[in-house]
Amino acid sequence: MTTTLITNIGELVTNDPGADDLLGVVADAAVVIEGSAVAWVGRAVDAPDADERVDVGGRAVLPGFVDSHSHLVFAGDRAEEFAARMAGESYAAGGIRTTVAATRAATDEQLTSHVGRLVAEMRAQGTTTVEIKSGYGLSVRDEARSLAVARQFTEETTFLGAHVVPEGTTPEEYVALVTGPMLEAAAPYARWVDAFCERGAFDADQARAVLEAGAAHGLRGRLHANQLGPGPGVRLAAELGLVAVDHCTYLDDADVDALCESGTIATLLPGVEFSTRQPYPDARRLLDAGVRVALASDCNPGSCFTSSLPLCVALAVREMGMTPAEAVHAATAVGAQALGRDDVGALVPGRRADLMILDAPTHVHLAYRPGVPLVRGVWLAGRPL
Ligand code: NIG
Ligand code: FE
Repeated sequence: MTTTLITNIGELVTNDPGADDLLGVVADAAVVIEGSAVAWVGRAVDAPDADERVDVGGRAVLPGFVDSHSHLVFAGDRAEEFAARMAGESYAAGGIRTTVAATRAATDEQLTSHVGRLVAEMRAQGTTTVEIKSGYGLSVRDEARSLAVARQFTEETTFLGAHVVPEGTTPEEYVALVTGPMLEAAAPYARWVDAFCERGAFDADQARAVLEAGAAHGLRGRLHANQLGPGPGVRLAAELGLVAVDHCTYLDDADVDALCESGTIATLLPGVEFSTRQPYPDARRLLDAGVRVALASDCNPGSCFTSSLPLCVALAVREMGMTPAEAVHAATAVGAQALGRDDVGALVPGRRADLMILDAPTHVHLAYRPGVPLVRGVWLAGRPL
C-alpha cells in the first residue's frame, strides 16, 4: 500500500482522546497515511519515511468535519419565506409543506444532482462525513426514493417520515402510515429513524411510536426536539437512551439533568437560530453540566440553508459561549460520536484519513476569521479531493 507523509504542519488537531488537552494538539507535526487510514502522527522531526511527501507550509491540519444533521434531499427553495422572516414574520414548522410539494414534483435525477451540489459545497468547507435525512417526501414512494438518493452520498441516512403531517391526512392516519408501510419501504435505505417532536409537528407519544417502530426494523433513533419552545422531546430522547437529540434550544433544568444521566449528546444547530432570529441554545450551560455537545449544520431549505460548518463553529463561539477548541471538537469528534462512529472524527492511527488543511496557522482562525474561506484542501479516505 502506498504511504504518504503530510509534513510541515504548524498545528495538528488530532482529537486524541488520550491527550491532556481537548484537541490533542501537536505543534510542528506530521501525519503518515497508508491507504485510506492514518498510520502515524507525531512531531515532523520524528516522522518515518513514506513513498510520497506533501509539505503544507506550516498550515493547520484538522480532522474533517462530521456533520451529523442535514436535510439535503429536497427541491425548490424558500428564499421568499426567509425574506419575510427577516421583515418580521416568525418561523413555523408548516413551511415544510411548501418544500414537500416541490420535492414530490422533482425527478430522481433532479434530486440526485441537487444533493450532489450541496455535498460538494460541504466538502469544500471541510465536511468529510455527512448525515442526510429524508422528510420532504412524506409519502411511501417519496420517502423511500429520498433515502435511495441520499444513500448514493452517505451511509448515514435517516428516515424522517415524521417531519410534519402532510395535507389531506389526519395525524392518526399518518403515524400509522409512517410506522407501517412507509417504514417498510424506507428501512432498507436507512440507518437511523428520527421524528420532529414539537408543537405543530408530533407529540411525545407519536414520536415514541415512530422511534419504537424504527427500532423494530433495526433503525437507531435520533430526535428533533425543543427547537421552537419547551417540550417533552429531550426527556424522551434521554429516557430512550438515544445517542443524540438535536436542536435543544429551549431546555429547563430537568432536561439538562436528563441529558447528563443518559449520556445523550445534545446536537446544537446554530445556523437555525441565525436564520430564524431565535435565541441561541446555551452551549455553555450544557458543557458545564457535563453534557456532550455536537455542532451540525441542519442544512435545509427552511430553517437554515447553510452547508457551512465553519460558520456554525464561528456562531457557537461568538453566540453560545463555546471556546474555539470546544466548537472544533464538537463539529468533529463529538459529531462522529453522535453518529456512533469510531472510525472518523480524529487523526490517530487506525482512523480514516479524513482531514482538512486550513489556510491559517491554528484552528482558532475558524472563529477568529468568520466568513473567510480558510479551507484550502480536503482529504477523504487518504486522498486529496
Ligand atoms: O431541523 N425542525 C424541523 N426540520 C427542519 C426544518 C425544516 C424546514 O423548515 O423545512 C429543522 O430545522
Ligand atoms: Fe433538522
